[in-house]
Amino acid sequence: MAQQVLNVTVPAMAEGSYPIVIGSDFLQSLWPEIERQWPQRRAFVVTDANLVRAGLLDRLLAGTDVPRYVIDPPGEVSKHIHTASAIVEAMERAFLGRDTLLVALGGGTVGDMGGFAAAIYKRGVPVVQIPTTTVAQADSSIGGKTGVDSTLSKNAYGCFWHPAAVYIDTETLRTLDERQYCAGLVESVKHAAIADAAFFGYLEDHIDAILARDTDVLEHLAYENCRIKAAVVAEDPTEKNKRRILNYGHTLGHAVESASGFALLHGQAVAIGMIAAGHLEQAMGLVGDDRLERICRLLEKLGQPTRIPPGISKATLIDLLKRDKKAVRQWPRFVLLEQLGRTWCKDNQWAHEVRPDLVEAVIDRMTAS
Ligand code: GLY
Repeated sequence: MAQQVLNVTVPAMAEGSYPIVIGSDFLQSLWPEIERQWPQRRAFVVTDANLVRAGLLDRLLAGTDVPRYVIDPPGEVSKHIHTASAIVEAMERAFLGRDTLLVALGGGTVGDMGGFAAAIYKRGVPVVQIPTTTVAQADSSIGGKTGVDSTLSKNAYGCFWHPAAVYIDTETLRTLDERQYCAGLVESVKHAAIADAAFFGYLEDHIDAILARDTDVLEHLAYENCRIKAAVVAEDPTEKNKRRILNYGHTLGHAVESASGFALLHGQAVAIGMIAAGHLEQAMGLVGDDRLERICRLLEKLGQPTRIPPGISKATLIDLLKRDKKAVRQWPRFVLLEQLGRTWCKDNQWAHEVRPDLVEAVIDRMTAS
């Protein structure tokens, strides 16, 4: 399949829009293209030790001596301000100026940290995102969110810093283990559930090919994810209202993820959060279809948890919900569905206050006994 290009129009950006290039097996020929696109800039690559081990850094740079920073250990454990500061200082040591182009090659942590470092380096340099995981290709590389965790919560430091371009090579997904690969697919289920019932049907119908990592199906998935997310981001780039729908499943999801000490992957926690949202919809009388059953079935086929694991207490979850960064008067807002493929909007609001007793009842119901 030839490469497809989507243009994301972001009204808040001076440049107006950026391309998302989607294809398969082009990482090894991408570097000359980046040099052609940004001839005046000096590149700096941020990646992590997993990408080095998987050979993807070599595949991208093919023996060039571009300065780089390798996050090690990879993952959420390194997503703190000391790493951001180490990236900035590595750029300084390489004598890079405001003409730098930061290239983030990796998953969500690399993209979030690389984007944040680009945003703060000498008051901001452009960033190119090359996402290599299911979660990053579907979600985190698009839309300009950057973030670094504090010791108290996820993404406490962060800003919007839209990429100059996003390059999605679906072939890189073959380097992921099954757990990581499947957890990231939860973001595709999320996009389908909030915005596109036909895409949800596609996921159901192609589940075997998805699990087998069929090339054409992966490209289609990438395209649909980016199309859905780009439309939402274009409408509300800085999450004043509509963009909140992308947080479907994330309210309880983030709490469960933190409460598990990050033993649960982000996508696994969001799967639990989506089921919680479904139970809340039922408790609020918002249900007239079999969407909760369909979402649950699809998540189970992807091997995702649909109940809160043992060892996570209701008190801990409630405490984390009160600290949610989108909380208003110490209580978070929940994104709920009106039907499969359509998010519930009431009084022009896309995220809703839900009574604490309903939330507590859902936590009780979903806590494995
Ligand atoms: N991951 C949700 C968003 O980008 O808004």
